[in-house]
Amino acid sequence: PSDTSGGGCPVMHGALTESGDTVMAWWPKALNLDILHQHDTKTNPMGEDFDYREEVKSLDFEAVKEDMRALLKDSQEWWPADWGHYGGLMIRLAWHSAGSYRLADGRGGAGGGNIRFAPLNSWPDNASLDKARRLLWPLKKKYGNKLSWADLIVLSGTIAYEDMGLKTFGFSFGREDIWHPEKDVYWGAEKEWLAPSDERYGDVGKPDTMENPLAAVQMGLIYVNPEGVNGTPDPLKTAQHIRETFSRMAMNDEETAALTAGGHTVGKAHGNGDAETLGAEPEAAGLEDQGMGWSNANQNGLASKAVTSGIEGAWTAEPTKFDMGFFEMLFGHEWELRKSPAGAQQWEPVDIKEEDKPLDASDPTKRRNPMMTDADMAMKMDPGFNAICQKFMADPKYFEETFARAWFKLTHRDMGPNQRYIGPDAPKEDLIWQDPVPAGSTGYDVEKAKEAIANSGLSLTELVTTAWDSARTFRGSDMRGGANGARIRLAPQKDWVANEPEQLAKVLAVYEGLSAETGASIADLIVLGGNLGVEQAAKAAGYDVTVPFAPGRGDASAEMTDEESFAPLEPNADGFRNFTKAEFVVTPEEMLLDRAQLMGLTAKEMTVLVGGMRVMGTNYGGTGHGVFTDKPGALSTDFFVNLTDMANKWEPASKSTYNINDRATGETKWTATRVDLVFGSNSVLRAYAEVYAQDDNGAKFVNDFVAAWTKVMNADRYDLA
Ligand code: HEM
Repeated sequence: PSDTSGGGCPVMHGALTESGDTVMAWWPKALNLDILHQHDTKTNPMGEDFDYREEVKSLDFEAVKEDMRALLKDSQEWWPADWGHYGGLMIRLAWHSAGSYRLADGRGGAGGGNIRFAPLNSWPDNASLDKARRLLWPLKKKYGNKLSWADLIVLSGTIAYEDMGLKTFGFSFGREDIWHPEKDVYWGAEKEWLAPSDERYGDVGKPDTMENPLAAVQMGLIYVNPEGVNGTPDPLKTAQHIRETFSRMAMNDEETAALTAGGHTVGKAHGNGDAETLGAEPEAAGLEDQGMGWSNANQNGLASKAVTSGIEGAWTAEPTKFDMGFFEMLFGHEWELRKSPAGAQQWEPVDIKEEDKPLDASDPTKRRNPMMTDADMAMKMDPGFNAICQKFMADPKYFEETFARAWFKLTHRDMGPNQRYIGPDAPKEDLIWQDPVPAGSTGYDVEKAKEAIANSGLSLTELVTTAWDSARTFRGSDMRGGANGARIRLAPQKDWVANEPEQLAKVLAVYEGLSAETGASIADLIVLGGNLGVEQAAKAAGYDVTVPFAPGRGDASAEMTDEESFAPLEPNADGFRNFTKAEFVVTPEEMLLDRAQLMGLTAKEMTVLVGGMRVMGTNYGGTGHGVFTDKPGALSTDFFVNLTDMANKWEPASKSTYNINDRATGETKWTATRVDLVFGSNSVLRAYAEVYAQDDNGAKFVNDFVAAWTKVMNADRYDLA
């Protein structure tokens, strides 16, 4: 619609059909609730009754694997396989699909097949992976609903490794596809692909100053720039950036070295041509390109003429074999900087015998120089990585096993604990990064336990806030956190400011006693206590309700808990409890939205929970902000009634707090934060607030609150159906 020149069609102006045009573009700073309403039934072609995780269980796993092995070696004229094997390409597809994961918010990763959509499908770093997905299409077509793209992509890389000789650690099915670009993932503020990385760093010389939650050095890259920091080769500097970016996806130095070496043991880089002549990326390409991008007029059907990164060459002498070739090549030669035919900076051997070189990817009568990227050189030049490589070289079995485990972690990290795994190759071993939780008991008397809590002397506030704090760490982005395991008892969570450690310790001491007495796990007691508090509050508002409870949570131990990897789950703000740890660049209401999205809540659920938590008196530190009621402790609609009452006037009291004054007398009745008032100021949230303020919706409010509360308490109950 933006081009109306030369007799443009006026009819088209009835609808806003271009991505750049939305009604809200006029107010770019307005709170955008869209992130809470993604992937809903209208966008999903499979319908409400379709359950992929059930469907995939009937897949003929062996047949798929057999077909995959054949596909990998079935070179297609339209995109020929290097050395007749697509393994390298598929491994890179799986790795780039998984490698967008970042620990800070758990977003990104291979779990939903997001690499099919923007922006990832068009990232410069993902060039040519459009071809990889098209090559996989026949398998997707054949196995249909029983095999998601997300599973297929990770499977392709894993079977490729197996086919090239690696003993893999296993594979799990169960990744459910999304059907449109994700709206919740922040990839950086730059407006230019591969912009020099300085914008996302406080100081690019200090990699840990990279803006959180980002985990790649530049817009459009998975991790580091292969040519060096901002394109300037310097393996020691690149090593620092590798260390930082890989640790932001929860990989330690050993895993990082194993992944880089094992990754570049197979396949090749493509830059035998002019990158400038490539066509547009998929999202910008013409209709005739049919969703593919980076068209290469010079390729002429020859794999060895492909251009992807611009770097050219293989790393090893036998790039279709998983072996020790990467180390032999890297450590067996001296390397010097050269330029690829496409002009990229790369390292090539100062001296290499002809027979040690890899064959040309499409002409077995020729040999080509191998190469190393700046990142590969970092494995040799950085003393820390070098020492790890020495260990791997001395013990190839150890390398293979370390790599296989790291590959499995890379590709399964966002799937949650292993009870969610599906398929014959899913490993049973508990791995610390899966945050294992032992099964809990269901055989105790729940009513008796509830009664014991009721008689324990814990206050409504203590009951409800402890349950909330325990459950609110859940994030659907990578299936971590939540109330199961009662890790709120353990470091680091027990000491988080947000958890009010003193009150928490007192409550936990009570629950520990009750656990011994009743046979219920502490995790169950925490939730049961919260439910009891909600029931008491509902009763005080005149409603008799029973909050659904599913026993069976277990208590995790410190040994089962990777403290370091739990640190990112710490709430810096929790609008549900009117808490912020400090003043941040983003507003508290944006942080509320972010948390609600991670918890899997809709805007309606977020609204009802905030309104209910306020009147129950569950604010952090017991503040009165947003407690718009004369009967705290009762689950009434007062928050919404008073928020929407025109007898009240709202006035700023400080930078981030407000007074609610009687419009007639000027008397201050209540105080509020931005998080409270956003439910009256944002037009969409106000619409929900009005629903709960209505005279006829008191019971609906209580029911909706209980439903949303239960959803939060059970979010991590993968054992329930
Ligand atoms: C290819 C960089 C880590 C697996 C490439 C290419 C580059 C690159 C520039 C060439 C792409 C092309 O032109 O076709 C990097 C950097 C890394 C890294 C900077 C960070 C340290 C990894 C990891 C894996 C991996 C962790 C997997 C475990 C591969 C594979 C290829 C490849 C298999 C070959 C693709 C093909 O044969 O078509 N990488 N990579 N890389 N990478 Fe990496």
